[in-house]
Amino acid sequence: MKNEHITFHRGKVSRNDRFSVLGQKGVAVWMTGLSASGKSTIAVETEKILIGMGKAVYRIDGDNLRHGLNSDLGFSEKDRFENIRRAAEVCALFVDAGLIVLASFISPLASMRSLAREKTGDSFIEVYVKADVETCEKRDPKGLYKKARAGEIPDFTGVTAPYEVPRSPDLVLDTERYSIEECVRILVDKILQFSVLK
Ligand code: ADX
Repeated sequence: MKNEHITFHRGKVSRNDRFSVLGQKGVAVWMTGLSASGKSTIAVETEKILIGMGKAVYRIDGDNLRHGLNSDLGFSEKDRFENIRRAAEVCALFVDAGLIVLASFISPLASMRSLAREKTGDSFIEVYVKADVETCEKRDPKGLYKKARAGEIPDFTGVTAPYEVPRSPDLVLDTERYSIEECVRILVDKILQFSVLK
């Protein structure tokens, strides 16, 4: 609950001033998809390419944030909402600062993605990293699907917890059909178009 005795202090610098300093528009690239769909792998490669081009980029990801800021949260629907709320607030601050933010969170429900979009406003690209449960389960790089099937991880997305496929994402990266390199190229192009300072 917001305390009633607080005020918002406006600065003398606008976000456009900050964007001009960096020579780019801040943008939230919100990547949603199942565990092992390829979100983090694509984000890591995309970050490397954009940094190589002199862009100001920062990557935030569910697994990493859950080591610190969100280490008190689990995977109930309530905790996931709080995870996404905090992540979206952080993301919005970085976007306001002028960064290209690569955010990788399962964010399984449409309402969670809407919440993230609301926090960032019009500088938001929803990217669906597409791979179905069977594919992710075959990949299973962390062995989590196997554990989930064995009943060792409750509320596991795609197994015992829902994932709502995005209805109208701004971009789909189909990692079943395309290689990581191809997905990264498509994503980099989209980000460069969006972050151009006009
Ligand atoms: S989210 O649903 O709240 O958006 P988030 O992206 O932060 O999830 O974290 C997902 C990561 O946590 C997965 O990549 C996986 O490594 C790990 N994980 C641990 N338990 C679960 C679970 N029950 N469901 C999904 N992912 C889990």
